[in-house]
Amino acid sequence: MQILVTGGTGYIGSHTCVELINAGFDVVVFDNLSNSKESALDNVCKITGKRPKFYQADMRDIDSLRPVFSENHIDAVIHFAGLKAVGESVAKPWEYYSNNVGGTLNLIRVMNEYDVKNIVFSSSATVYGNPAAIPITEECPLGETTNPYGETKKMLERILSDYQKANPTWHVMLLRYFNPIGAHESGLLGEEPNGIPNNLMPYIMQVVSGKLPFLRVFGNDYETPDGTGVRDYIHVVDLAKGHVSVMKKFNDEPGVYIYNLGTGKGYSVLDIIHAFEKANQLSIPYQVTERRPGDIATCYSDPSKAEKELGWKAQYDLEKMCKDSYNFVKKSVLK
Ligand code: NAD
Ligand code: UFG
Repeated sequence: MQILVTGGTGYIGSHTCVELINAGFDVVVFDNLSNSKESALDNVCKITGKRPKFYQADMRDIDSLRPVFSENHIDAVIHFAGLKAVGESVAKPWEYYSNNVGGTLNLIRVMNEYDVKNIVFSSSATVYGNPAAIPITEECPLGETTNPYGETKKMLERILSDYQKANPTWHVMLLRYFNPIGAHESGLLGEEPNGIPNNLMPYIMQVVSGKLPFLRVFGNDYETPDGTGVRDYIHVVDLAKGHVSVMKKFNDEPGVYIYNLGTGKGYSVLDIIHAFEKANQLSIPYQVTERRPGDIATCYSDPSKAEKELGWKAQYDLEKMCKDSYNFVKKSVLK
């Protein structure tokens, strides 16, 4: 089975390429390298022995998508490509709607032209907004988004669901990721954002590598056990494996399938700091500052639907996530 991975040189995409290849799938990657490097595919090759065929192009240019489908026999698309920085999306809404929504509309159109009817979409726990209930099940109503990035995820879930309704032979898989962290244990793949990171673990990695002086903890007055925000951190390799597990659903009835991909456990910011310190025998300087606008207190999943229907369950614990994150810093960032 041949899988097109859009955004396949990115953080989650590159790890997913590894797991797909290891599971015997044939992988084609499409990416404009706006937030990644082609060398990720050399590293995928070092790990798996196979280098995916690569198209460097932009999904906003519909003509650049067509050769991918005409020159290959794509059976399914895993669609990671998109912009994902929450703060940047507030400053650049046009870019986010154009890239994420416009790009995906192009992709759907070209898939339709080439009769490819299977798609996995990278959605996010952000669609639940401030969740109505914790732990969050897939039945939890969608909430208010606080930024254009989150809104693109909600819109694209709706667009893909409407499209499936009108085209009932399509399989649409909406995967709602919680907070992916960690890296491939080889240290060859990981997350290395451009500029100052928004997210907690990439920020910690820059503090421990000496690029930033200290971590700011955004608020310690939330209604959580220690007052800091609680999230469901999931090892990126577990998340990648979730994408392999969902492939078998393409043999089931067509339809829209929605799965939370998380661990079901919530950890606070202070839990993460202390776990990282313990796992890697170092200390992380931090200061508590104001809350970050738009943040919620607690967000963690009920991942039981994915376990029941996909046979998938996250395996790695927080210690492994912290060790692998730091191993990537040592092997690939500081070298
Ligand atoms: P990433 O930025 O590392 O990967 C996205 C890839 O898409 C990059 O390689 C980028 O170059 C590419 N891309 C962007 N716009 C493109 C375009 N117009 N044409 C072609 N390629 C384009 O991000 P990631 O963390 O790997 O996230 C992958 C997906 O998962 C994204 O859709 C993201 O919104 C979603 N997601 C991520 C998280 C997270 O915390 N990392 C959480 C929930 C959902
Ligand atoms: N945090 C800090 N300091 C930092 C960065 C983050 O204290 O420098 C705190 C936040 O306040 C929050 C927690 O760490 O309590 C996690 O923050 P992240 O920015 O790492 O992650 P979020 O849960 O805010 O959001 C991320 C992505 C969203 C996605 C969501 C769920 O940025 O796009 O996970 O998948 F929707």
